[in-house]
Amino acid sequence: MTTVPDSVHPVRRPVSEEDSRRANRLDWDLYADEYQRTHGDFLGDVGFVWGPEGHQEAELGVLGEREALRGSVVLELGSGAGQCSRWLRSQGAAAFGLDLSERQLQHSRRIDEATGITVPSVCGTATALPFASDTFDIVFSSFGALQFVAEAQVMVDEVARVLRPGGTFAFSVTHPVRWSMPDDAGPEGLRITSSYWDRTPYVEEEDDGTPRYVEHHRTLGDWVAHLHAAGFVLRALHEPQWPEGLDRVWGGWGPLRGRLVPGTAIFVADLSG
Ligand SMILES: C[S@@+](CC[C@H](N)C(=O)[O-])C[C@H]1O[C@@H](n2cnc3c(N)ncnc32)[C@H](O)[C@@H]1O
Repeated sequence: MTTVPDSVHPVRRPVSEEDSRRANRLDWDLYADEYQRTHGDFLGDVGFVWGPEGHQEAELGVLGEREALRGSVVLELGSGAGQCSRWLRSQGAAAFGLDLSERQLQHSRRIDEATGITVPSVCGTATALPFASDTFDIVFSSFGALQFVAEAQVMVDEVARVLRPGGTFAFSVTHPVRWSMPDDAGPEGLRITSSYWDRTPYVEEEDDGTPRYVEHHRTLGDWVAHLHAAGFVLRALHEPQWPEGLDRVWGGWGPLRGRLVPGTAIFVADLSG
């Protein structure tokens, strides 16, 4: 999210899919330059990082054996500047990006040109995927679209539609236990200030009530239920530990809280059939 201007206030209130999308598209268009400037080196132009803890796909193998990636057809949701998909392309996968923000995709094209590894990408929303059914072997997201959409079941159903039977869906999100704590990497962030079971979205809104940024919270059980309803079988839930020696702070993620509670959850599910 962009730095919150004085005219914008954080609140918790219901917000529709349409309003979430409008707000987040504008926010990510405005924030994209700062995001890439601040986190680009950490992500790596051809690098697959699953979250602020810095764990790499090359180390975790969430998507399977590296040899098996070669030749697989992959879609990344909320691909941003395409770093993860570019790493997959360097491993021989045919990876494609989808993102809501045109400015993020401009950064993707900039890095395509700089590295010579192009990630073909489209501007769109994860709740209406512009692809034929049974197209992909893997759909994944690293802190991409999932926590920004109101209609989570619509999105997970869309992922099931575009995956081939037996295909894999893997995604990282803010760990659900984190939602009951302030978005603060310091001592303030060690307090429980809201209920884990309160799904009311986090909204930054203008004085007139217009949403400027929206995040949606689901519990661990909610994600399992969404996956199950779309025909997925949950295979793994990774909760990466904060690495020794990592002092980097990213928003509410940092070493102080990172050593005590998980900041990231990575779900891995296979489509039955
Ligand atoms: C935290 S960034 C992560 C980007 C990239 N995965 C990375 O690791 O740098 C979240 C991305 O999700 C995108 N996004 C937000 N809502 C979306 C939606 N409904 N559909 C697709 N992408 C969305 C944003 O534009 C942004 O690029």
